Amino acid sequence: MPTKHRIAVIPGDGVGPEVTAEALKVLSHAATQFGFAYETTEFPFGSDHYLATNEFMPAGQLERFQEYDAIFLGAIGDPRLPPGLVERGIIAAIRFGLDLYINLRPIKLYAEHLCPIKAKTPADVDMVVVRENTEDLYTGMGGYFKRGTPDEVVIANQIFTRKGCERAARYAFGLAAARKRKKLTLVDKANAIEVQQLWRRTVEEVAPDFPDVSFDFAYIDAACMWMVKNPETFDVIVTPNLFGDIITDLGAIVQGGMGVAASGNIHPGRVSLFEPIHGSAPKYKGKNVVSPIAAVAAVGMMLEYVGETAAAQAVESSIAELLASKRIPSLDASSGLKTSEVGDMLAGELRRHAAAPRSVTARSVGSGK
Ligand code: IPM
Ligand code: MG
Repeated sequence: MPTKHRIAVIPGDGVGPEVTAEALKVLSHAATQFGFAYETTEFPFGSDHYLATNEFMPAGQLERFQEYDAIFLGAIGDPRLPPGLVERGIIAAIRFGLDLYINLRPIKLYAEHLCPIKAKTPADVDMVVVRENTEDLYTGMGGYFKRGTPDEVVIANQIFTRKGCERAARYAFGLAAARKRKKLTLVDKANAIEVQQLWRRTVEEVAPDFPDVSFDFAYIDAACMWMVKNPETFDVIVTPNLFGDIITDLGAIVQGGMGVAASGNIHPGRVSLFEPIHGSAPKYKGKNVVSPIAAVAAVGMMLEYVGETAAAQAVESSIAELLASKRIPSLDASSGLKTSEVGDMLAGELRRHAAAPRSVTARSVGSGK
């Protein structure tokens, strides 16, 4: 009997519900075209829910998520609440609570005209960032002393564990081994932050298990410069949590903007969460103008993860096709297309791909297989 994929859906805040609606539209077309079954359960978590109930998620919610194959999240964040509060209470809580130790962020340019860097083409921008997702300055270990006084002291601890480095490194090597160029770059700051030598040692120790993959090291500051000057030098990047956060916004603009960048928060073999990288963009809420492409790309990654490889590739090819042909001319409001129109176009393109599969640009990165 074919499996029925169980998907938890958190539309969230701001433009989250709008982009989620288009993502689910494409998911439903993919199911019809590729003949798989799925069911979704929507959860109301987000700022309205928090303001109404004073809780981010009910007790036992993380356990409940484990009954699902994947979670789709639209966006979280609201200016009515202190910065980061609801993001930490929901996004970070799920990443940490479900031990989603990989944050997988493909950076792929689908159309030359979308790249802000002169003369760079899709052949130059095709990399994947493997961001460690459960450690670093994100653990919240640390705190305040003499808070609010002139003598205030704050401490934030940058935590790395050998286990955390190793599982990220292994995942990244595995991903690199499955890609054409088979190259891994560890991005760190091991010159100024000496303890980051742990990352370098770990990568060196894991490397012999992946003899086909070449690897090198780059400091985060230099890597930012190379990402703009010569993005073609990167294939797979593995990096600690905070650097991964920063470098993937840079990556998003190199691939055309936040309107196209997607991510997967993954614990291989367990329920994992897929989301666009962009935030809730409160000022555009309800206007039906933001690009749903990043959310749809996240659905593509989710389909890959749950084993619907053909559907995943068709989703990616549809995005590539519509952008390269300029039928979707840009990733912001200048496209003149409504959020829902872009969703319709992607669903229509998907139908064409399913009828006549093409493998122009698709290469899967979703599950590292
Ligand atoms: C991201 C976001 C989050 C992060 C925020 C919302 C906590 O910027 O997913 O990249 O820093 O991880
Ligand atoms: Mg970020």
